[in-house]
Amino acid sequence: MSRLDSAIRRLQAQKAALEDAARRTAGLRGLVLEFGLGNGRTYDHLRTILSNRRIVVFDRQVAAHPDCIPPDEDLYLGDLFKTLPRAIAELGRSAVIAHLDIGTGNKDQSVALVTRAAPMIADLLASGAILVSDQPIESIAGLIPLPLPDGIADGRIHMLQRT
Ligand SMILES: C[S@@+](CC[C@H](N)C(=O)[O-])C[C@H]1O[C@@H](n2cnc3c(N)ncnc32)[C@H](O)[C@@H]1O
Repeated sequence: MSRLDSAIRRLQAQKAALEDAARRTAGLRGLVLEFGLGNGRTYDHLRTILSNRRIVVFDRQVAAHPDCIPPDEDLYLGDLFKTLPRAIAELGRSAVIAHLDIGTGNKDQSVALVTRAAPMIADLLASGAILVSDQPIESIAGLIPLPLPDGIADGRIHMLQRT
């Protein structure tokens, strides 16, 4: 598969998983967490499909398209491992969707980052909340894997739900 095909499938999987998570959590009250603002692509999609929800964003910097910059009050700016403890204290288990897209381009580094961050992020998830991650997540107490949306190949994206 060409790198172009691979990139397209990754983005299709991300879009399908976020939309599936939005549908599955429609009946729950809570906010959305976006880990990795990047250029704001998935943040923009989340605020389009979940216009009624607060979206709280984590990144070490703001380098997004000017139309996709979250308001200051919804931004935890800085290294994730410094901002997460404050977010847990301030937000508690109030999220119904968490999207992890903090990949660095290096597979091993990205997996290590997500493996370290995921248990802390789990502390922000309400009952029934869904975690969507581009990197695999090892088993975390209280989270069970979900089947992927139709047409999305195993391993392209990962979805877990807090019981
Ligand atoms: C792949 S990009 C996100 C792409 C974005 N979701 C989009 O659709 O445009 C990954 C982002 O994660 C951020 N990131 C990586 N490691 C981080 C860390 N330890 N703390 C905070 N942000 C981090 C990077 O700064 C980068 O903006």
